[in-house]
Amino acid sequence: MTSSQSFEEDLAFSKALHKHEAESGGLLAKITSKDKEAFSNVVNNYMRYWVDKDPMSETEEEKEARRSNYTNMTNSYYNIATDFYEYGWGESFHFCRFYPGETFYQAIARHEHYLAMQLNIKPGMKVLDVGCGVGGPAREICQFTGAHITGLNNNDYQIYRAMKSAVKVGLENKTNFIKGDFMEMPFEDNTFDAVYAIEATCHAPKLEGVYGEVFRVLKPGGTFAFYEWCVTDKFDPTNIDHRRIVRGIEYADGIPELFKTSVALQALKNVGFEVISADDLALNDDRTSWYYPLEGNMGKAQCIWDFFTVFRMTHFGKFCTRALVGGLEKVGFAPTGSLQTQRVLETAGDCLVEGGRLGLFTPMYLMVASDIAHRTLVIALAGIAVYSFVGAGVMINRRLDKSKEMYIRQELQKISQDTSQNSESILTDDNV
Ligand SMILES: C[S@@+](CC[C@H](N)C(=O)[O-])C[C@H]1O[C@@H](n2cnc3c(N)ncnc32)[C@H](O)[C@@H]1O
Repeated sequence: MTSSQSFEEDLAFSKALHKHEAESGGLLAKITSKDKEAFSNVVNNYMRYWVDKDPMSETEEEKEARRSNYTNMTNSYYNIATDFYEYGWGESFHFCRFYPGETFYQAIARHEHYLAMQLNIKPGMKVLDVGCGVGGPAREICQFTGAHITGLNNNDYQIYRAMKSAVKVGLENKTNFIKGDFMEMPFEDNTFDAVYAIEATCHAPKLEGVYGEVFRVLKPGGTFAFYEWCVTDKFDPTNIDHRRIVRGIEYADGIPELFKTSVALQALKNVGFEVISADDLALNDDRTSWYYPLEGNMGKAQCIWDFFTVFRMTHFGKFCTRALVGGLEKVGFAPTGSLQTQRVLETAGDCLVEGGRLGLFTPMYLMVASDIAHRTLVIALAGIAVYSFVGAGVMINRRLDKSKEMYIRQELQKISQDTSQNSESILTDDNV
């Protein structure tokens, strides 16, 4: 996979790698059915952006290589990680807040509903999901609100899986999934009534790029609400431990560079948005932390299914996955690089937990913004139009009144002339 493939080449590569039509089953079935050479090439391709680069001494040029090849790097990441994500987490690739008595999947869905509520989504609205993954949130928000959801994604395999699942649950006419880079969205200006993004825009090399595109495709007066991955003000780039943790998150989650919450907020304003609210939802007094499943904290599991989800993240659960995936790779059933992928994802989990515990990182900086300036302009223009319309109406009325008055005068004159003529003729006829 090269850094500048066309969409057609991307799709052909994805079909060859993942065997789209044939793939089915769980993690082991999926990884053993991949094209082995293509898979290990993708793993190597991804690793070349990171390996052997000390986060403290890495040069600007090395970082720039990731930023300028962001589509290739992120696509490679999701080509190797998607099946592992679905196996470990489900069809919504994001975090959420957890409450006692609420199961893992209920909590994930509530996080999505909460976002939909920020946008005031109504049935029939046209809504965009930026960086839609395999479509878990798009399907949930579609069912929850009755709106039409368009998922935008740069990864063909995920788009394929999203479309397949939409058909399975009968949502193929209320959702669609489009291949595209969120830094250059394939949509006309003013297309969507509302836009949301869940833990996806952090893959942008520059936040103004993706936020600016959202601003462009959003209809005047529309709202954009999203959960951003950010580092917090506690992050000190000169602290070796902080750098190691944040760099670990970037490396193990396919992110060119994580930005501070203040940088994200400013980027939103820079492209023209009016910020309605900005809150780090990770700063709370919840009894259960957002990263508890990654800690493998079985004590917080709420039902038997949570137990299985969390078990996979325990030391023993990770050991089992490593043994199975590594074993299959050794005997040649799974492609070379499968075990390395599992290790990358373990690094992701560890660094996310460390970042969460120290409060250096948040996966849920919720920002809600609207193009109020746009809206004000529209309201002002509408006001001017109404005023002009009413004004014109009054003038026309006055003119009509004047012409009516003249007409009546003329008619009266005629009548009086006729009457005087008639009376003259009557007098004549009477032969006075
Ligand atoms: C962590 S996943 C979140 C997916 C989804 N929002 C969810 O919650 O299930 C990030 C997503 O962003 C997508 N993405 C990353 N870079 C992108 C880009 N440049 N254009 C479009 N999508 C992109 C990835 O393919 C992936 O689907």
